[in-house]
Amino acid sequence: MRYQPLPADVYRRNRRKFMERMKPASLAVFNSNDIYPISADSTLPFQQHRDIFYLTGADQEETILLLFPDAPDPKHREVLFIRETNDHIKIWEGEKLTKEQARALTGIDTVYWTSEFERVLRDLMRHADRIYLNTNEHPRASHEVETREDRFIKWVKQAFPAHKTERSQPILHRLRAVKEPEEIAQIKRACDITGAGFRRVLEVLRPGMYEYEVEAEFAREFLRRGSRGFAYTPIIASGPNANILHYIQNDRKIGEGELVLIDVGAEYGNWSSDLTRTVPASGKFTPRQKEVYNAVLRVKNKAAKLLKPGITIPEYHKKVGEYMTEELLRLGLLTEEEVKNQDPDKPAYKKYFMHGTSHHLGLDTHDYGIPEEPIQAGMVFTVEPGIYIPEEGFGIRLEDDYVVQPEGEPLNLMAHIPIEADEIEAIMQEARAKEGK
Ligand code: GLY
Ligand code: MN
Ligand code: MN
Repeated sequence: MRYQPLPADVYRRNRRKFMERMKPASLAVFNSNDIYPISADSTLPFQQHRDIFYLTGADQEETILLLFPDAPDPKHREVLFIRETNDHIKIWEGEKLTKEQARALTGIDTVYWTSEFERVLRDLMRHADRIYLNTNEHPRASHEVETREDRFIKWVKQAFPAHKTERSQPILHRLRAVKEPEEIAQIKRACDITGAGFRRVLEVLRPGMYEYEVEAEFAREFLRRGSRGFAYTPIIASGPNANILHYIQNDRKIGEGELVLIDVGAEYGNWSSDLTRTVPASGKFTPRQKEVYNAVLRVKNKAAKLLKPGITIPEYHKKVGEYMTEELLRLGLLTEEEVKNQDPDKPAYKKYFMHGTSHHLGLDTHDYGIPEEPIQAGMVFTVEPGIYIPEEGFGIRLEDDYVVQPEGEPLNLMAHIPIEADEIEAIMQEARAKEGK
């Protein structure tokens, strides 16, 4: 394995938390993702479904988890099904998990082959009144493909029409939002790898490079450090491209005097990090660039301090909007008049800062969480304000990842990654001076 997996005890705890929230006489099933085809015989690299990974650590296709806390036979309280391996598969694809390895990795004692799933499920369903189904209820989810989980749900509803169904997602959205210490350590590893990539980029970035060359430097540093790559499609946006919020082409030549907005995060063992820095291609900010930069940095630092147990995300966003409004007034981008006459549902600051400030971060980059419920210790959030000024040809966003603490200020997992304008300039200029020697 490229990454150091977490101890089985973490997954035992996660399953216990899930089972404690299940109704009596009910069973839950979680499926892996498919391996998605491209065309001919090519496929995309496998990406495990984050829910079964959260509950088992099993990072292999065709794995199924079944939880049945009230199973008459205690050995069926937790059952893992894995793809049967054989000598032919071993030669062509390499080792798959053996039953022994699967037990050690997941902490589940009862392991069967996936081919036995239907028979075992039919047997256990005789003792269950309801089944928990894992539909995708992420508010931003939007896709046309039918997943392996979708197919299972369709099948199970037909096969067992007399059983009641329950939703797994409300439980998972609450559980996955609050991270175990070991999980935070894994996110921190991902953040450290991202930081190594960023330091490298500060050294090599020059006007005249293409945005994809910057992307390549990150990929190199990530892969060398045991990450399987980017946690999400990276954004390397020079000059005016920074004002395209979801710019991912990364194919423009970086010009002299331009800023480069870099929104890049490494994954580590399926855990995400999510960083944004905006840096001057020539190694020095102009006075106007620095003025806007420092405004964004102040908003980020002040916003982060609000991330304490008790506040809700809508309350937090309202407050951050007030901080941003102050800065935009100071920068001369908004007038007192505009602010006084603003529509509270569409405040004036949105002209220059049109996205949210924070999202949960974890196994998914836009991780699970219920925004209307108060923030708790152990939740991990990004803080990522930005000011986008198309009329001045640049945009700035800064983003760090924070862990909410039981008391006091949140812990910045990216505190060691340069962000002060002076420090960024000093590192860039030192690298250039060395090159000049
Ligand atoms: N990179 C995705 C985000 O910042 O939300
Ligand atoms: Mn980001
Ligand atoms: Mn983000």
